[in-house]
Amino acid sequence: MAAAEKMIDLPADAPIQFFDLKAQQATIRPALEQRWTTILDHGRYIGGPEVDECEAKLCEFTGAADAVAVGSGTQALVMPLIALGYGHGDAVFIPGFTYNATANAVLLAGATPVLVDIDPGTFNMDPEDLERKIQRVKGTRNLRARAVIPVDLYGLPANYTAIQEVADAHGLRIVADAAQSFGGKQEGKWIGTLAEISATSFYPTKTLGGYGDGGAILVRDKEMGDLLRSIRWHGTGDNRKESIRVGINGRCDSIQCAVVSEKLDIFEAERQRRIVAASVYDQRLAGKVETQSVKQGDEPAYGLYTVRVPDRDAVRAKLSEAGIPTAIYYDTPIHQMPAFEQFAPARGLPECERASREVLSLPMHPYLSEDQVHRVCDTLLGALQR
Ligand SMILES: Cc1ncc(COP(=O)(O)O)c(C=O)c1O
Repeated sequence: MAAAEKMIDLPADAPIQFFDLKAQQATIRPALEQRWTTILDHGRYIGGPEVDECEAKLCEFTGAADAVAVGSGTQALVMPLIALGYGHGDAVFIPGFTYNATANAVLLAGATPVLVDIDPGTFNMDPEDLERKIQRVKGTRNLRARAVIPVDLYGLPANYTAIQEVADAHGLRIVADAAQSFGGKQEGKWIGTLAEISATSFYPTKTLGGYGDGGAILVRDKEMGDLLRSIRWHGTGDNRKESIRVGINGRCDSIQCAVVSEKLDIFEAERQRRIVAASVYDQRLAGKVETQSVKQGDEPAYGLYTVRVPDRDAVRAKLSEAGIPTAIYYDTPIHQMPAFEQFAPARGLPECERASREVLSLPMHPYLSEDQVHRVCDTLLGALQR
């Protein structure tokens, strides 16, 4: 199908939004209002039937054996680390170019983040640097190499095949940070099934967002799902009173689960429109602007569409003058944030540092018209020529 047939039509002067939650809301508002009424009537604001419904739909969509809805993407990362029993002296390997939640989750679980550099093409964890960092940890006495958290930055799946190989060689577990990549695929398999445990976020601007905080943990093993359900409710058993292990309040509200369930019904159509928007960007920018490199077999979720531009501030200002919003994810790598400086490798993380100076995210959402994507490209290419 031609790109133009799949994207929505808008008037020529419609303002370009970076994300467009308003347009999306308009398509599901009557169904949501019906759901509010149902929730107000049954009154089970926590643990209502919407939670089971949402979890079942997440499994149905991805093929995961179990899904546990939780209070945020951050909780979805902390809780598996608690479930796996990590704590003091345990090294968890994470990329140095990610949202701060990945690092905070490791520290909140009591473990130590070990920062790995990224591949400059994909912006995702470099498996060769992972191997180097594991060797380094193995050469010390104070840390045990335990787990790796690959991050699917901007929605592009990490290199799970290579990372799994390295993890298997050293007996490491994998907890995927799929906060940005729900709806992505690798070798025909959905995000959420590419690692034994995957954490995703329902932050409103994510590909599958709620109307508040929320998240989910998708697992291959039902026993792990049961363990996470106990941890979600302060480590209690069936009576929900007595803690049989350490846990937290990790619950997702009925209202958020209702929103996510509703959005799952329109998700595939939205996913297709993101793919088409990305293909227009790809075609227009090929050979002129460095885009995130997508290898054969990968289908990004296109939570964000990000390019590298050397003279970023000037280019960004020109786009802004033309009414085109952009964003920077992220202008500070993890090891340069005050809270995590103590984990900075001696020689830094050169590719994380370079990416933080050069990345620029362009408007990306399912409610862009093809004309709007061309306008962004025209302005960007014009700004780069001057
Ligand atoms: C890569 C990454 N990890 C973790 C999170 C944390 O998710 P949340 O904001 O839902 O806690 C986010 C989202 O904000 C993220 O982008």
